[in-house]
Amino acid sequence: MRHSLNRVCLWLCAFVLWSMMGHALNESLHICSESHEDRRLYIGDKPRSAYAQLPVIYFVTPTYPRREQIPELTRLAYTLLHVPRLHWLVANDREGCDTFLDAQINGFGIPYTHMASPMPSEFRKAKPAPRGVANRRAALQWLHQHNLTNGVLYFGDDDNTYDLRLFSEIRHTQRVSMFPVGLIAEYAISGPVVREGKVVAFLDSWVAGRRWPVDMAGFAVSLSYMAQYPNVNMPYKPGYEEDLFLRSIGLHIDQIEPRGNNCTEILVWHTQTKNKKSAVVRLENRYMDERSNLGALFRLLEQMGVARASESEGLVATISKNGKSKSHAYFLS
Ligand SMILES: *[C@@H]1O[C@H](CO)[C@@H](O)[C@H](O)[C@H]1NC(C)=O
Ligand SMILES: *[C@@H]1O[C@H](CO)[C@@H](O)[C@H](O)[C@H]1NC(C)=O
Ligand SMILES: *[C@@H]1O[C@H](CO)[C@@H](O)[C@H](O)[C@H]1NC(C)=O
Repeated sequence: MRHSLNRVCLWLCAFVLWSMMGHALNESLHICSESHEDRRLYIGDKPRSAYAQLPVIYFVTPTYPRREQIPELTRLAYTLLHVPRLHWLVANDREGCDTFLDAQINGFGIPYTHMASPMPSEFRKAKPAPRGVANRRAALQWLHQHNLTNGVLYFGDDDNTYDLRLFSEIRHTQRVSMFPVGLIAEYAISGPVVREGKVVAFLDSWVAGRRWPVDMAGFAVSLSYMAQYPNVNMPYKPGYEEDLFLRSIGLHIDQIEPRGNNCTEILVWHTQTKNKKSAVVRLENRYMDERSNLGALFRLLEQMGVARASESEGLVATISKNGKSKSHAYFLS
């Protein structure tokens, strides 16, 4: 009896899960702004036109509002500015568009698409929450809608560190290329084991039944290859996104192209910034005007989601001169 009940649950639960994943999901994708124009005159030491024949890299960056968001994306943008023929897909996990972020991204002059792709409400309370999945799914949908069958897809989080050689390595991916990622989990490394130029296994401290135990930043996929798999998918299953995505495109181990000198180099690092709540600093409203820089400074920090000034909350701002702090009125009135 117990056995058959379990069996019923197995089927029923699987069905519920399946319907949650494929059907009843409350997903939304909103394009905030987009530009296909590359406003850079020079990239590296060559004019932009020198790169016109290269396949485009579609660099997908899931991001979410937090105080580190703008600094991380700024650092990443200054890396991407060195990379020719790149389309930056920035997918933000929030309802509606962040106009400040929009202006920032547009200012770099790289071709981009900025979209709002919030995590469906049904997953918000899950532990662990499937972070970044709605964003990557939105980007996959965008690629699909544009019928792109030329170029390379790469999932590049906003907090990783990228060696510029990575982009030359993945640019000519035929099907799926793979390479080691530094600073992953216990071994501080995750990546393929390569013998005689072929991927034969994987080194990663968390296997958990994954056929492809790799990090999201450890592979790139050619769009012409991906286009052969209409059921390409990235399910909301924390920890298994890479594995199930790579399974959904029918990958075979002998098709993998090892990059980074047969996976002996580290071209991408899983660096992480400490994630802290945005700060509240106690400062009187009456001093937030043009008499000093502080009003403008805190208005900017608030737009960035980094910090805000408050009359009634937070730590009282210490303002000092010659090693001595004085009342706010002393400096600001
Ligand atoms: C779906 O999401 C929208 C906002 O994205 C929300 O307003 C709406 O209530 C949600 N619907 C359900 C059924 O959760
Ligand atoms: C993609 O292809 C479909 C079907 O052939 C077509 O309806 C659609 O307009 C195309 N989209 C773009 C952006 O070319
Ligand atoms: C990788 O190893 C194979 C077999 O040893 C060799 O032929 C190939 O040149 C190597 N590739 C690179 C980029 O070093």
